[in-house]
Amino acid sequence: MIEVKHICKSFEEKDVLRDISTVFDKGKTNLIIGRSGSGKTVLMKTLIGLIRPSSGEILYDERKLTAMRKPELKMLRREMGMLFQGSALFDSMTVLENVMFPLDMFTHESWKEREKRAKFCLERVNLTDANDMYPGEISGGMMKRVAIARSIALNPKYLFCDEPNSGLDPKTALLIDDLIHDITKEYNMTTVINTHDMNSVMNIGEKIIFIFEGEKAWEGTKDEIMTSTNEKLNDFVFASDLFKKVKKIENWVNEEG
Ligand SMILES: Nc1ncnc2c1ncn2[C@@H]1O[C@H](COP(=O)(O)OP(=O)(O)O)[C@@H](O)[C@H]1O
Ligand SMILES: [Mg+2]
Repeated sequence: MIEVKHICKSFEEKDVLRDISTVFDKGKTNLIIGRSGSGKTVLMKTLIGLIRPSSGEILYDERKLTAMRKPELKMLRREMGMLFQGSALFDSMTVLENVMFPLDMFTHESWKEREKRAKFCLERVNLTDANDMYPGEISGGMMKRVAIARSIALNPKYLFCDEPNSGLDPKTALLIDDLIHDITKEYNMTTVINTHDMNSVMNIGEKIIFIFEGEKAWEGTKDEIMTSTNEKLNDFVFASDLFKKVKKIENWVNEEG
């Protein structure tokens, strides 16, 4: 569980995050949604300690990240998996070497052990035949799988994904969502996902916080989204094509009835 308490962040004169409080639950896919520029990435970077908030606190299962010095933060980071925009794979390393990288960096296990763990993670994301290939030789969806395998290599308690679906076709995007969701359940991780994709929201939005111009404007579940009367949220939701279609069908059903 990650508790966020009254987080504010300003860059020079600009208030980018304004008094955000929430809780990200363990064993759930927690979604941060909002338009481009609303502050999702800044919030996620603040969560993982890459950006210092101007004020407010962040607690990881009672441990106060915002009070930590570098060595403590480094220890905590060891418990975090990260999947950032783009796949950020190393082009000059094979798929297997990419997944082994965090193990090489952070563990003292033997090469055989590290290889075994990396292969296990690659199998978990259903990539078994690509170990010796280079990122340039595989599809975008496969690269994303490699990145997920790498992010879970160290068996993290907390998983952060910033727009994990960007650049993927809708079908592959759904598969990646499902994979992140299933892994979250399997390892009982606290997973936080930034997205502006309504398909993802309705697919895996167990807990959702909606950010509007740096403020938390709404919080709820994917079922509550459909019945919310929050205007800002509805503007965001119904701006997406999927929901124009759903609304059309609803209106049509109502008229028929
Ligand atoms: N390092 C920075 N310095 C100044 N402004 C920034 C910085 N990082 C982000 N911003 C601003 O913060 C706002 C929110 O950005 P971001 O969190 O990237 O939005 P989102 O991820 O929701 O698209 C934007 O207006 C952006 O220009
Ligand atoms: Mg962003």
